[in-house]
Amino acid sequence: MIQIIFFCLMGISVYALDNGLAIKPPMGWMHWQRFRCVIDCETYPDECVSEDLFRKMADIMESEGYLNAGYNYIIVDDCWMDKNRANDNRLQADPIRFKSGMKSLGDYIHSKGLKFGIYGDYGTHTCAGYPGSLNYLELDAQTFADWGVDYVKLDGCYSDPDTMVEGYAAFGNYLNKTKRPMVYSCSWPAYQEPDGHEADYDALKKTCNLWRNWDDIDDSWSSVSSIIDWFTKHQDRLAPHSGPGHWNDPDMLIIGNYGLSEDQSKAQMAIWSIMAAPLIMSNDLRAMKTEFKNILLNKEAIGINQDALGIQGKLIASNKKVNLWTKPILPKVDGYFSQAVGLVSNRTDGFAYLSDFKLDDIGLDAPNGYTIQNIFENEKMYTIPPHGSISARVPPNGGVLLKLVPIPKKHL
Ligand SMILES: *[C@@H]1O[C@H](CO)[C@@H](O)[C@H](O)[C@H]1NC(C)=O
Ligand SMILES: *[C@@H]1O[C@H](CO)[C@@H](O)[C@H](O)[C@H]1NC(C)=O
Repeated sequence: MIQIIFFCLMGISVYALDNGLAIKPPMGWMHWQRFRCVIDCETYPDECVSEDLFRKMADIMESEGYLNAGYNYIIVDDCWMDKNRANDNRLQADPIRFKSGMKSLGDYIHSKGLKFGIYGDYGTHTCAGYPGSLNYLELDAQTFADWGVDYVKLDGCYSDPDTMVEGYAAFGNYLNKTKRPMVYSCSWPAYQEPDGHEADYDALKKTCNLWRNWDDIDDSWSSVSSIIDWFTKHQDRLAPHSGPGHWNDPDMLIIGNYGLSEDQSKAQMAIWSIMAAPLIMSNDLRAMKTEFKNILLNKEAIGINQDALGIQGKLIASNKKVNLWTKPILPKVDGYFSQAVGLVSNRTDGFAYLSDFKLDDIGLDAPNGYTIQNIFENEKMYTIPPHGSISARVPPNGGVLLKLVPIPKKHL
């Protein structure tokens, strides 16, 4: 028994990627969900994928509090490249949309105190048809390092899923060889899981800091809720692989776009926080309504997401189509963890019904009860006695995020 435990502890320290990065779930902004592959800058001068777009987003991340709140990576997704490699075979940016080049864009992003992320693809082509890194893995890793890249998202279009475990590891070794610390975001499970193949999460942890497990997110509640469903259905298999330095990634936050109501936005923020998911926004920061911005900048929600334990919370109870997730967080009081509790209603019948969950039924057993705080509402903190109940009104398709801290024993 002792040997088994020893082996497991060894496994955690030795068999995970050790580049010192993504100790907490990465936070930032990425263009894909909102700006896609819009390359027609004549029709869409303010929205096309161009250096101007990223410079503007960098300005706003710095000036409007996103960077201060922790959103520090700005990540260029697909469609930044020229259709051809340069004469020396290096990747090159589109000469019109990124006329100053990627090194210059990276310098600008760094001048704002932000970090620079970029996109590549493990296959022959990117998903949108730009040059892929197959046969150029070492050169592309070095090119990214030369440009000052801090984060690489390596997609998996136009490649053979059976070669991904070795291929992604090879690219990871080349990243390491550059000596520049770069967060490594892998997409390979998203090419295996939808075909019914369970990805090798031990291999993922060895190679990557985070990985996209499943479908791309779209700008709708049905997309968000189908992603929540999938991660919930597979939570017992996925959650053990989440932790400091290595994270499951259910894809971008779409809060502030066209598709989610305010309550649905709270639900996405609540569940992404509980799941210790990367908080990568994809929205137009130039046109954010205050109510959405407040959700994204909510300090307590971010604190739950960034909790140092790095535990991926799980759905543990359902009551009349209201689902409840819990995530153990710090502080630990008299040996009992604090808990983040997320409630999401899967109802559509009009009314924010009151939902009750007994602490005893959800394993919250601190002997003196808990203080409880409703994160998105400015309600006063209140207390629940031991064996008491959580009750909250959860709007249809909406989410509530609660933080429960054990009440310490009285010192006599
Ligand atoms: C490269 O890998 C070694 C061994 O895991 C690690 O200590 C080092 O921090 C890595 N360097 C970079 C730049 O990722
Ligand atoms: C929500 O309801 C839909 C439709 O009834 C169902 O498919 C889905 O599994 C439910 N999600 C959860 C998390 O209960």
